[in-house]
Parts: sequence; C-alpha cells; structure tokens
Amino acid sequence: MYNIALIPGDGIGPEIIREGKKVIEAASKIFSIDINWIEYPFGAEHYLKTGELLPDSALKEIKDMDAIYFGAVGDPRVKPGILEKGILLKARFYFDQYINLRPIKLYKGITCPLKGKKIEDINFYVVRENTEDFYIGVGGRFKARINQDHLEVLRKLYKAKIQVDFNLEQKEEIAYQIGLISRPGTQRVIKYAFELAKKKNLKRVTSVDKANVLTDIYGLWREVFKDVSTQYPDIKTEFNFVDAITMYFIQKPEWFKVVVTPNMFGDIITDLGAMIQGGLGIAVGGNINPEGVSMFEPIHGSAPDIAEKNIANPIATILAGAMMLDYLGEIKAAQAIENAVEKVLSEGKVRSHDLGGNSYTIEVGDEVVRKLREINIK
Ligand code: NAI
Ligand code: MG
Repeated sequence: MYNIALIPGDGIGPEIIREGKKVIEAASKIFSIDINWIEYPFGAEHYLKTGELLPDSALKEIKDMDAIYFGAVGDPRVKPGILEKGILLKARFYFDQYINLRPIKLYKGITCPLKGKKIEDINFYVVRENTEDFYIGVGGRFKARINQDHLEVLRKLYKAKIQVDFNLEQKEEIAYQIGLISRPGTQRVIKYAFELAKKKNLKRVTSVDKANVLTDIYGLWREVFKDVSTQYPDIKTEFNFVDAITMYFIQKPEWFKVVVTPNMFGDIITDLGAMIQGGLGIAVGGNINPEGVSMFEPIHGSAPDIAEKNIANPIATILAGAMMLDYLGEIKAAQAIENAVEKVLSEGKVRSHDLGGNSYTIEVGDEVVRKLREINIK
C-alpha cells in the first residue's frame, strides 16, 4: 500500500487534482494497486483563515509517506511569493528534492509551434538541479556606503555561513545575489541524469552552463560533469552554453536526449521546453529525491483567471500522476495512463479549451479513464 499526501492547493488546483486522482484510482483498480490518500488543506484559503502555510507537524507526517501529489498554489488575495515559498519551496527543501525532472514530449494530436517538427522530434528529458545555484535565497539590497550581511544556507548536504562586506566609495543603491553550488550537490544531480539515460537507453547527455562567463560556479559544474561522465563510457556527452541551447531547442530539438542543468538555467529552458511540447496544459514536473519523499505536479500555476470554471486542462496533472506511479515502481500503470492520455489527445474528440477544444475539465478526466479501461480491460 502507498500513502500519498494530496495537496490540491489554490485556483484550479482542486479541479485538476480531482481528475488526476480519478485517473490514478482507475489505474489502481486495473493494476491492483492500493493507495491511501491523505489530503491536506494547505493553500491560500487555509493561510488566510489560520496563518498557517506548511507546518512542521505536516512535514513530519509526510516524511513517512511514499510521495506527494501536488496541484498548484498562488492566490491574488495573498502577496506573491508567500504561498509559493512557504509551501512549494518549503517542501522541496525540507525533503531535499534535488532533482526537477521535466520530460519534454510532444504528443500526437498536439500542435507544435515549431514548423516541420514531428512527434518523434520532440522527446527528451531535462534534469534540473532543484536546490542550489542562484536560488539559495542569499542576497541583499542597501543604499549605505558600508554594508555587512551575515547570511546562511542550510541544506541537508551542508550548512554555510556567508559574510559579505561592502565598502563603497559612493553611496549608491546596490543589490546583489549569491549563487552557490557544491561538489556533492552537483555530483548527485549529474549522476541522476546519467542513470536516467542508462535506464531509458538514451545515448547522449547534454550539460548546460555558462562557464565562459560565470567561471567559478559553472567551472565547478563542468568539472563534476566530466568526472561523473567517465563512469558512463557508453553515453556520449557534450557541453552547451545556456544561450546556445535555447537556440538549439528551437532549431534541432530532435538532437536532445537527456539535458542536465543548474537550477536557474533549468527554470528558463524548461518553460521553453513546455512551449515546444504544446504548452502549460501538458507539461509535468517531478521534484525528486531518489532516497526520500518526492513530489509530482503540473508545472503550471494556480491559473486564478480560469479557476472554478471547470475549463482547466487536467492532462499535465494526470501525467504527473503517471510519473508518480512510475517513480513508485508501478511502471505498467504509469505507462497505461500515458497511453490513455496519448489516445485522448490524438483522437481529439475530447479536448480542453487551451488546446482549442471546448470540453470541460471533468470530461477530459472521464475520457482518460474510459480509454484506460478500453485499452487495458479486454
Ligand atoms: P499560471 O501557470 O497559473 O497561468 C498562466 C496562464 O496559463 C494563464 O492564462 C492560465 O489560465 C493558463 N493555464 C495554466 N494552467 C492551465 C491549465 N491547466 N489549463 C488551461 N490553462 C492553463 O501562471 P501565472 O498566471 O503566472 O500564476 C498564477 C499563480 O500561480 C501565481 O500566484 C503564481 O505564483 C502561481 N504559480 C504556482 C506554481 C506552482 O504551484 N507550482 C507555478 C507557477 C506559478
Ligand atoms: Mg518557472
């Protein structure tokens, strides 16, 4: 039996999670999987009522569970960042989910914005580092000539105290942000990328950086990539600068198999990836700690503009559910859900608004369930 923490969150979160759960339950019946859902109310409504974001008591409970299935957070009534940092990022850091796994796959029936590209041309993985780089939250702003900051980075791998002294000739406003990566933090994500390539029988791993300008931080990244790659002699490797890879994603997406990237560049190139695979309604993200509790979610946000209208596309969330089952080792069930989604998309009879159709959220979920049964129960 699997214990899954369910956090629907805000906006369209509850609508899409309802469909995702429905599909997982249908697959569970077919493949005899036993799931115990533990639902949590965290999000804007709960925060406004109680002041609570994601309390330690819940984190301690979830620690013993098998995975988290997450909708989205974010609400116009709450200052931007509070829910995102207090819930989503808190979970990512607490569970040390150091991998952000983003499959970039074009499904049949989805229009690709790139002219002349076919479904077989867009099918690769981006493995984004999820805990370090310029996103460690270390920085400051000041207007004084002299400024001293004492900052801290607390991670499972290490604790760092950082002291910054500024002594400026003029009193001008200054802002700075510190990026930090560690050798073990880099090793583990790059190793994951190579293991993924090996598991999926993919023969190339591409590293992304900007080592020509940000020489320290991405110099270390490159060195570790070279080191780790020696353990995988059958897999080809290459380095791409981040600016160049944005070009190649458009020009020759068929080249890529597994792309491994530091946090910030990964943030940027995965949005580009989402667009070439047909948009936010399709794009999935796994926040993975292979040794701990992982969290699966659509990459889009809470879409308050379309909330409670029953028109959100639940496909990304349904595919996130498939990724979760795959991660739990339920590979057949995961594949079956993906096949069912593929069927629904390629038939195009039931299609959500963002994909040019007029079906409701619930209809899309129901159709995936119908196809799932049709394909697997004969
Ligand atoms: P968003 O991803 O929520 O929406 C962007 C646009 O895409 C909107 O027009 C929306 O209607 C559309 N869209 C998104 N998901 C869709 C779906 N499943 N079906 C159909 N259309 C869909 O990004 P936005 O508007 O910048 O942010 C809204 C809130 O979500 C903010 O509070 C933001 O901070 C939060 N957010 C949360 C994330 C998370 O929980 N992982 C990720 C990104 C944003
Ligand atoms: Mg982003």
